[in-house]
Amino acid sequence: MNKEYIVSPSLLATDPMNMGRDIKMLEDAGAKWFHVDCMDGTFVPNFSFGYSIVSAINKLSDVVLDVHLMIDKPIRYIDEYIKAGADYLTIHVEADTEENTALALEKIKSQGVKCGLSIKPNTPVSAIEKYLDKLDLVLVMTVEPGFGGQSFMANMMPKLKELSEKLAKVNPACHIQVDGGIDVNTSKICKENGANVFVAGSACLKAEDKKAFISAIEN
Ligand code: DX5
Ligand code: ZN
Repeated sequence: MNKEYIVSPSLLATDPMNMGRDIKMLEDAGAKWFHVDCMDGTFVPNFSFGYSIVSAINKLSDVVLDVHLMIDKPIRYIDEYIKAGADYLTIHVEADTEENTALALEKIKSQGVKCGLSIKPNTPVSAIEKYLDKLDLVLVMTVEPGFGGQSFMANMMPKLKELSEKLAKVNPACHIQVDGGIDVNTSKICKENGANVFVAGSACLKAEDKKAFISAIEN
């Protein structure tokens, strides 16, 4: 199945005092999705966006909001992020019990929002195998979650390949997203291993020509 390639610029790399300006700039550069990183200081050692920011971004822009929850027991906040306007809501399999993860995914889907599940670098594909047929997106972290600007972990590629082979059998339409250290070069390696959605923070925001950056990955 040939899937569309999509760049999801990470708003974590925008200038916090000028986020509205940066959002407009990324829209003008052709961004179809925005990746919004939400961190709670517990699941990851850093804080970032809460649902009020997601809601403000949603009012400003019609771009698809791809919300990445790096929070402990995400089931507690799903309704708030959906109300705020998330189009894709991705939780981490490591963040709660199997029972709550299944319930959280169900809760997301039942409200008409696309559901995603993410794995950290040390988590194997087997940890999410039972959910694969129900997902709209799987996120394979290519850095330890928590911070922008880290180096791409090429050793995640066998895992990405294993995941894409499994999804091809059970859920071929599911998006396969990579996040962490993605630029034009590393995105190529990820494409070869089955990824089709590329989160890019620092590389995208630092690119002199953002339109060229996005189209180099998407085309
Ligand atoms: C890291 C976040 C990423 C981050 C990526 O925990 O999930 O989305 O913004 O930033 P770069 O592209 O700079 O690695
Ligand atoms: Zn992210």
